[in-house]
Amino acid sequence: MGFDTIINNGSVVTAADTYKADVAIDGGKIVAIGKDLPRENATKMLDASGKYVFPGGIDVHTHLDMPFGGTTSADDFETGTRAAAFGGTTTLIDFAIQYKGQPLRQAFDTWMEKASRKAVCDYAFHCIVTDISNGQLQQMNALVGEGVTSFKLFMAYPGVFMLDDASIFRALQTTSKNGGLICMHAENGSAIDVIVQQALAEGKKAPKYHALTRPTTAEAEAVSRAIALAEMAGAPIYIVHLSCNEALEKVREARDRGLPVFAETCPQYLYLSIENMDAPDFEGAKYVFTPPLREKWHQEKLWNGLKRDHLQVVSTDHCPFCFKEQKELGRDDFTKIPNGGPGVEHRMSLIYSGGVAAGRFSVNRFVELVATTPAKLFGLYPRKGTIAVGSDADLVIFDPKREHTISAKTHHMRVDYSMFEGIQVTGMPDVVLSRGRVVVDGEKFLGKAGQGEFLRRSTYSQING
Ligand code: URP
Ligand code: ZN
Ligand code: ZN
Repeated sequence: MGFDTIINNGSVVTAADTYKADVAIDGGKIVAIGKDLPRENATKMLDASGKYVFPGGIDVHTHLDMPFGGTTSADDFETGTRAAAFGGTTTLIDFAIQYKGQPLRQAFDTWMEKASRKAVCDYAFHCIVTDISNGQLQQMNALVGEGVTSFKLFMAYPGVFMLDDASIFRALQTTSKNGGLICMHAENGSAIDVIVQQALAEGKKAPKYHALTRPTTAEAEAVSRAIALAEMAGAPIYIVHLSCNEALEKVREARDRGLPVFAETCPQYLYLSIENMDAPDFEGAKYVFTPPLREKWHQEKLWNGLKRDHLQVVSTDHCPFCFKEQKELGRDDFTKIPNGGPGVEHRMSLIYSGGVAAGRFSVNRFVELVATTPAKLFGLYPRKGTIAVGSDADLVIFDPKREHTISAKTHHMRVDYSMFEGIQVTGMPDVVLSRGRVVVDGEKFLGKAGQGEFLRRSTYSQING
């Protein structure tokens, strides 16, 4: 039997095991895993001695080419997926936005158009639902049939994205029947709006007030309400970008009761704090995103949540806006700063470094957080998220010893700053394969725009019962 490629001598890591084996690839799939696979049968050999072989990372929360706050996020599907690949992430789930009055299908078509000729690695979509007044609940079923099996709802941004509790409850009832998964942006937007207006009236307009007007209680209350609505509807729920201990406690309590409640956090909440927003010359604007950065002590609580499975996923919420031309829009008023930060490139290294190299959790838990659980919750498993015969050959040869200092000078994201500037990580991807093709080899990019495929996903309940 001939193989396109054999990756030999690496330590293969899945969520369950670590073992020395060769991995053979043919036609974009993993076709054999074993000791000393016959190299004479392979067209290409990739040596992974001293390295880990991980399943390609899955980032389930990105915003590429997204209109927001009077501008558009700076990475499109080409630059964003390319930067992701440099960081070892080979699948993205982005968000297609339904604007008020639109059919859900229009959101899907619009985002397919943005992605299809540009993506260099595979992608899928959640649909952001902002209006269910005109039969859009039924359209959720149609989208599930198209492989868009998860929906983001907002409890924040009144007048823009926010849905009321009745609409949220109806949407949850719909996914409890069609097997999909609701992803919730959980912050009490109505209360936050009052606090924001009061701050502005008092002349508090600097970037830091973005964080000071969005208290942790506003997040915890919304998480608690979201869980209660999901419980009443008999639906699973996934909390996005969880940022603080109070919200984490709500998730932990619900999971202790056996509810199908899941949550992600993001590297910014693990590495950065509200102190970053004190940066002079408006540079605090680089850290304006929602939920906001919290006091430093929350970081260790979140790391511990990842270790103990109170949190199940690390995503990035990659939503890049350039400091010079875009964040600038809010120089005189923090509410006009486009919300979002860049991060898609460094998720794997930041979580490996802070999680595994720092001794907080195992390399298997790392794989579970960045690839396997994302694949299982979002209907991609076992095609993605693991290393098994029959799975897509999305693979990362990862050097656990290589050190790197993160900087905007060297990153591949199309944005003029890094949130993690100067942070040194231990562990970097060396070679990255997407469906068997080498797309990144060290500093060389070997992929092509348009090679990425749209992934029709199974539902949450098809995989998780
Ligand atoms: O500030 C953020 N997080 N921007 C992206 C949109 C969202 O709420 O995820
Ligand atoms: Zn959000
Ligand atoms: Zn987001």
